[in-house]
Amino acid sequence: MEVKKSCGYGKIILFGEHAVVYGYPALATSLELGIFAHVENSDCNEIIVPCEALHILPDKSKHVLGKVFAKILSYFPNESTCKITLHAEIPLAAGLGSSAATSVAIARGLSKYYGKELKATEINEIAFMAESIFHGTPSGIDNTIACFGGTCYLRDANKFPIPEDSFEEISLKKLTISRLPVVHKLPFLIVNTKRKRNTKKMVSKVRDLIEKDANKYHDVMGQIGALAKKGYDCIKKNDHENLGLLLNENQKYLNLLNVSCREIDFICEKSLEYGAYGAKLTGAGGGGCVIVLIDKDSEKLETIFRENGFDVFKNKKMEN
Ligand code: MEV
Repeated sequence: MEVKKSCGYGKIILFGEHAVVYGYPALATSLELGIFAHVENSDCNEIIVPCEALHILPDKSKHVLGKVFAKILSYFPNESTCKITLHAEIPLAAGLGSSAATSVAIARGLSKYYGKELKATEINEIAFMAESIFHGTPSGIDNTIACFGGTCYLRDANKFPIPEDSFEEISLKKLTISRLPVVHKLPFLIVNTKRKRNTKKMVSKVRDLIEKDANKYHDVMGQIGALAKKGYDCIKKNDHENLGLLLNENQKYLNLLNVSCREIDFICEKSLEYGAYGAKLTGAGGGGCVIVLIDKDSEKLETIFRENGFDVFKNKKMEN
């Protein structure tokens, strides 16, 4: 059988991580980087991740990736066994949606390899099931961006209206996605703290907070949700100054949700000191990546980040 490669996009959440788990609006956009799956014939099912020196046999392994692979394979019953090799252009477990991009890449790779054509919405559903294995209670934001790419506004459609620019509405289990036109490319630096964290743990940490004081934290998440719409309005106007202020505001609320960390705070502080419009963590926090909106020369800032042990790249090719 022919060898096929497939991709899932990485993503950055501009506004609304954590709040989106409770239905509040979020705005996210895909990166031009992702995870690729290379599928070929094999005597048994196996998955290889060269950058992590992983070789998993899903029938024998308890590794989460083995379970995810087995789950996705179950959508292709009675097909022959195969080997998948994953190539990552984005750092893993760093808030850029690597697990969802992996699931989408595997689902796309298998659908091409077995010649079973699946619609993007079907790939997205499979990836959502896989995300539940990775993360427990995903909102669906990561798999949706990994699958469709572009810019998406997600929310509980019973509570928050469709934004006027939406060109497609897709209903997920809990959320509805509005696909929005990508009007301007944003000049973000992406800074990887290299502190590994676990999305499932960060989401349950926020859940514990909410259980202690639901009114207070729903109020915080409501404020975060409101930023998603305002943020898109700034993007449309290419208004970096106000977009930056909104990013900073979102970061302040994420601090209240207790999902920042020393490295993230340092990166945000230095970014503002060196002329960025705004900066915030992206993804579940507790480590992972920070997005820094800066359209002037960022060389000095990048040097400071690298000297402190962080990786820096732009939304194109890895520079580190
Ligand atoms: C993770 O990229 C984003 C979170 O909001 C979790 C989710 O939405 O599933 C933290």
